[in-house]
Amino acid sequence: MAVIGLGYVGLPLGVAFAEAGYTVIGVDVDPAKVQAINDGRSFISDVSSESLASLVERGSLSATSDFSRLTECDAVSICVPTPLRKTGDPDISYIVTVTEELHKHVHPGMVLVLESTTYPGTTNELVLPRLETDTGLRAGESFFLAFSPERVDPGRKDWTTKTTPKVIGGVTPECVDVAMAYYGPAIETLVPVSSTDAAEMVKLLENTFRAVNIGLANEVLLMCDKLGLDVWEVIDAAATKPFGFMRFVPGPGLGGHCIPIDPLYLSWRLKSLNYSARFIELASDINSNMPRYWAQKVQDVLNDERKAVKGSKVLVLGVAYKKDVSDVRESPSLDIIRLLQAKGADVRYHDPYVSEIEHEGFEMASVLDLEPALLESDCVVIATDHSSYDWDMVQRLAPLVVDTRRAIKN
Ligand SMILES: NC(=O)c1ccc[n+]([C@@H]2O[C@H](COP(=O)([O-])OP(=O)(O)OC[C@H]3O[C@@H](n4cnc5c(N)ncnc54)[C@H](O)[C@@H]3O)[C@@H](O)[C@H]2O)c1
Repeated sequence: MAVIGLGYVGLPLGVAFAEAGYTVIGVDVDPAKVQAINDGRSFISDVSSESLASLVERGSLSATSDFSRLTECDAVSICVPTPLRKTGDPDISYIVTVTEELHKHVHPGMVLVLESTTYPGTTNELVLPRLETDTGLRAGESFFLAFSPERVDPGRKDWTTKTTPKVIGGVTPECVDVAMAYYGPAIETLVPVSSTDAAEMVKLLENTFRAVNIGLANEVLLMCDKLGLDVWEVIDAAATKPFGFMRFVPGPGLGGHCIPIDPLYLSWRLKSLNYSARFIELASDINSNMPRYWAQKVQDVLNDERKAVKGSKVLVLGVAYKKDVSDVRESPSLDIIRLLQAKGADVRYHDPYVSEIEHEGFEMASVLDLEPALLESDCVVIATDHSSYDWDMVQRLAPLVVDTRRAIKN
């Protein structure tokens, strides 16, 4: 079998399949990733190099950039990126490119499962017709096509690719049956749904649920600020209710490849049906403005000390979008840095997981020695609450702290 796209989703999935006894060919356009996998070197923190190397050594997992290897495979899972374009519209070009490759290599008996998060209708309206055109093959008869959203949460230890229940929808009932037989050995619990559209929508509901509730928590922070209340005291007390309340917390804004992006796939699709997804638009507006709120907080605390932002030394702790990972995609820390730089601050960052940033026009390197950097700064912004930070030390050495995560408890 094959996994196409060996990133945060594809590599752990390939490993789960290989551990279940499949012979896995990983296909990726990035030659550095292909080389690393074939050398048994993992670049994803959820996969240890040790377990990867042992699978590679015994021939259970290998990687290539050669799509013609798909002719050897009975099954394929597709895990390529689904970002947004600069305009905020879905960029499904990666799915389109891979579908063109699959069109060349699809053969009788093959099962194909799209895992990339996307808008309802993608599998049925975009992938299916292309695979049936000029191949003489029919889904549900001569090949099998399904959508199964990935739910991996990078950095999480209690739920893995194998133990997290997996939703599967097929373009026909036969397609679900075959896709479930394919995933069965690798995933403990499978949850069939009636269509690929439903499976696509399940993923968007899950991530919209998070984006909207984080948006609410962020708005509660803004409201508590105006009311002179401590938002954390209010949230913690509300969370003692044993039913009917779920704890979400405010922060610097949304980050990563999923929560800030996926709901916009849904609102884009709905726009084409003349419907405005109001909760999504509102949450996106509140969440994407949080870095502005925190940059203003820095200005306010410096002002209280009779200092201007312009020329002040600001140290940002954490540029990864969440704790204990190295992923800076869509990270709100980068927005906070940009906003403070625009106000003339001399901004540096420290992140134990991100030694340098070369991303969307950014070129910065982490300060190496944290203690002197804390002492030299005029203000420290805690943007990511990595577990390895010693918050007592930060509190002791930093002259001023703006804490977007309540990392410092008192
Ligand atoms: N990262 C997460 O936490 C997460 C969780 C659930 C779902 N998802 C979804 O899974 C999908 C993949 O996300 P990811 O975080 O693994 O992305 P990623 O960028 O980490 O990995 C994608 C991989 O695809 C490769 N690729 C790009 N174009 C290709 C092509 N034409 N052929 C073969 N390989 C190609 C890239 O080189 C990269 O290695 C996205 O749709 C994402 O929304 C991600």
